[in-house]
Amino acid sequence: MRTANRISKLPPYLFAEVTKKIARKRAEGHDVISLAIGDPDIPTPAHIVEGLCRAARDPVNHRYPESDGLPEFRRAIAEWYETRFGLTFDPDKEVLPLIGSKEGIGHIALCFIDPGDVAIVPDPGYPVYSIGTMFAGGESYFMPLVEENDFLPDLAAIPIGVASRAKLLWINYPNNPTGAVAGLEFFERVAHFAKKWDLVVCHDGPYSEVAYDGYRPVSFLQAAGARDVGIEFHSLSKTYNMTGFRVAMAVGNPVAIDALMRVKSNLDSGIFQAVQQAAITALQGPQDCIAEHNAIYQRRRDRVVEVLTKLGLRVRPPKASLYVWAKVPAGLSSIDFASQVLEATNVFVTPGIGYGSSGEGYVRISLTTPDDRIDEAMRRIAAWADSRPGGRGQ
Ligand SMILES: Cc1ncc(COP(=O)(O)O)c(C=O)c1O
Repeated sequence: MRTANRISKLPPYLFAEVTKKIARKRAEGHDVISLAIGDPDIPTPAHIVEGLCRAARDPVNHRYPESDGLPEFRRAIAEWYETRFGLTFDPDKEVLPLIGSKEGIGHIALCFIDPGDVAIVPDPGYPVYSIGTMFAGGESYFMPLVEENDFLPDLAAIPIGVASRAKLLWINYPNNPTGAVAGLEFFERVAHFAKKWDLVVCHDGPYSEVAYDGYRPVSFLQAAGARDVGIEFHSLSKTYNMTGFRVAMAVGNPVAIDALMRVKSNLDSGIFQAVQQAAITALQGPQDCIAEHNAIYQRRRDRVVEVLTKLGLRVRPPKASLYVWAKVPAGLSSIDFASQVLEATNVFVTPGIGYGSSGEGYVRISLTTPDDRIDEAMRRIAAWADSRPGGRGQ
């Protein structure tokens, strides 16, 4: 069987060795705690599950949905954006429901990238930006996100030859994996840069509601000029612990929304309507769950930052997102460091190289593991730190 070139171009699985090690340890009876995955452990709030069950019982929802979603779901999305960010969108032209934001992120490249075109993507970053680009026949230019620049890209460092060939520019704040945040001033510079080079900006914002210490992330689309050049992806996955539901949205520039709708209507048949009804319940129902969940993550964040600092890692407590991004000790690669932690403590943290070459030298710790397990992981790491030469126990 001869597969297409794009299959062989898919990146190799970087953590094959570590994954084997985890499997071996588990088979030997060790209690391995993985802090790798960004999938909320807290259940979906009960009133949303009730909304799903109610809608699932109604036969009207058993048939094919429309690709562009229920009009009442598009309206609920527009109303949510207006309440949260003070932005008004036409629910029929500027809002599109998605089967999870990953689906829209993957498909948007088909709307703008022709073979040979360039997409500018953050490094480290969520892998789907560059994979979608590759599937569409394009090339990715990776713009480094470095600590000295607060993990914001240096737009002025993008070569003119790249900017002039590029069609898409990806940004993502609050950021996965660095936990960095961005304000309106940065977003305005992005919009200005996009206008200058005739780029479409895709802002990926699934973590906008996961924030700490009273911080409230802004929307890219609030920035002056942003709506002329871009769209924003947002998701119910992390806001309402609905990763398994697969429901999200794109909002913004009507040309981009229409193009994405046309691609999707040829590839998928929309979201199960009962899931759309559950999403309406989430967006329109009580929002207290968001602050409650953030308080849980914030407590975990503080514990993780405390223990990693004790281990000698440089860590900035993130203001938002579900991730702590920690600098590993000099001289060790991120895979080496993660392997040492795994070997010594049976705790797995993700090597930063998995998110791109600029992620080298860091590890990512996800805050989506239950309290008792995260406490146990941190207890083991703290004990390891104490037992090492120079540790408190020496
Ligand atoms: C930066 C980023 N974008 C998009 C997604 C996809 O989220 P979903 O497809 O669940 O909406 C994730 C999931 O982890 C993510 O981290």
